[in-house]
Amino acid sequence: MYTGPYSAIKVSDHVYWVGAIDWTVRDFHGYATERGSTYNAYLILGDKITLIDTVEPEFKNQLLARISSVIEPSRIDYIISNHSEPDHAGALAEVAALVQPEKIFASKMGVRNLQAHFHQPLNLVPVATGDKLSLGNLTLEFIETRMLHWPDSMFTFLVEDGVLFSSDAFGMHLASNARFDDQIDDWEYEAVKYYANILLPYSGLVPELLDEVAAMNLPIKIIAPAHGFIWRKDLQTIQSLYRRWAEQKPTKKVVVAYDTMWGSTAKMADAIMEGLWSGGVEPKGMDLRVTHRSDVVAELLEAGGLIIGTSTLNNGLLPRVGELLTYIKGLRPRNLQTFVFGSYGWSGEAVGQVEKLFDEMGLGVFREGIRSWYVPNQEVLEACFNAGQEFAAQLLETIRREEGNA
Ligand code: FEO
Repeated sequence: MYTGPYSAIKVSDHVYWVGAIDWTVRDFHGYATERGSTYNAYLILGDKITLIDTVEPEFKNQLLARISSVIEPSRIDYIISNHSEPDHAGALAEVAALVQPEKIFASKMGVRNLQAHFHQPLNLVPVATGDKLSLGNLTLEFIETRMLHWPDSMFTFLVEDGVLFSSDAFGMHLASNARFDDQIDDWEYEAVKYYANILLPYSGLVPELLDEVAAMNLPIKIIAPAHGFIWRKDLQTIQSLYRRWAEQKPTKKVVVAYDTMWGSTAKMADAIMEGLWSGGVEPKGMDLRVTHRSDVVAELLEAGGLIIGTSTLNNGLLPRVGELLTYIKGLRPRNLQTFVFGSYGWSGEAVGQVEKLFDEMGLGVFREGIRSWYVPNQEVLEACFNAGQEFAAQLLETIRREEGNA
């Protein structure tokens, strides 16, 4: 086997990683991928040679080079598409044209989605949970994971090697040459950020899926996700984290995200955070002028409170606050206590508009917001400090109640 640049990496007896490392990507449909990503594809050397997923189209040649380090790509018999999003299926039509596989397998929704992406015949075959596919000497089993995170998403399990190809689940955007969990530290924030920005809206389905997989008694030895590194040493850590994140239990952390026109709203944020701290909770100040919305969401995953500050601009919110709230609304966080504040010059509608949005999101507003006419005076700053303390007291009471009920 060739061992030079763009080699395949052996994962198990019959499986090779043949994906691509993207050191450059910094925007993944609105999610800031500060540390790049990988698009993981896997080659299974069974009697029927099988490719699991492809890559983002720009990286097609890297995929083909890694496959070529093991076998001639035209020897591929089957392609499995676990997920039709273009970071995994974008190169599918071109790869299929080149290797001419006998069949391409996807979930029923995957077949529909791939047709809607490529608008050309691809010899697609639908599979469902529990279906098995013989590769001659090896067997694949399919598990649909609908809405985790697309309607088409599915897992594929290679029975003989115990490899679960888990698509986006258990992955993260993290470019690295390290391919396995025992080769890398400093990954947890990227896993949190990935869950919060991609999987959070579907948290209700996560425990069900983990239970379903556990009930299948699959002899899983390796979890091979579609992004980031492969889990071969400690498979439980990421599964336990997923269970914990799915619960969205309130904690003592309070995210204070704000934007400010001339510094008045920032002064109010400082006073509120000092009140929060003196009340016994941990404020996390996130000035939106220097903080990306996807990092705010990452911090929110294990928070108990969200406090938003915005000056009123042209009778509405500052744009960065509006953008953040639109993003958060789509991610449907739960169990957050909220509060709003901000400065204004003449009409001051922004605070009320954010409260209305929180109401639409089903998030409880702890009390009426604080508005400062222009620059906050001592009285306003003290009111902000006191509101921070009261917010902390109420949050601590909620946490105590939850712990009592646990
Ligand atoms: Fe990594 Fe949902 O695509």
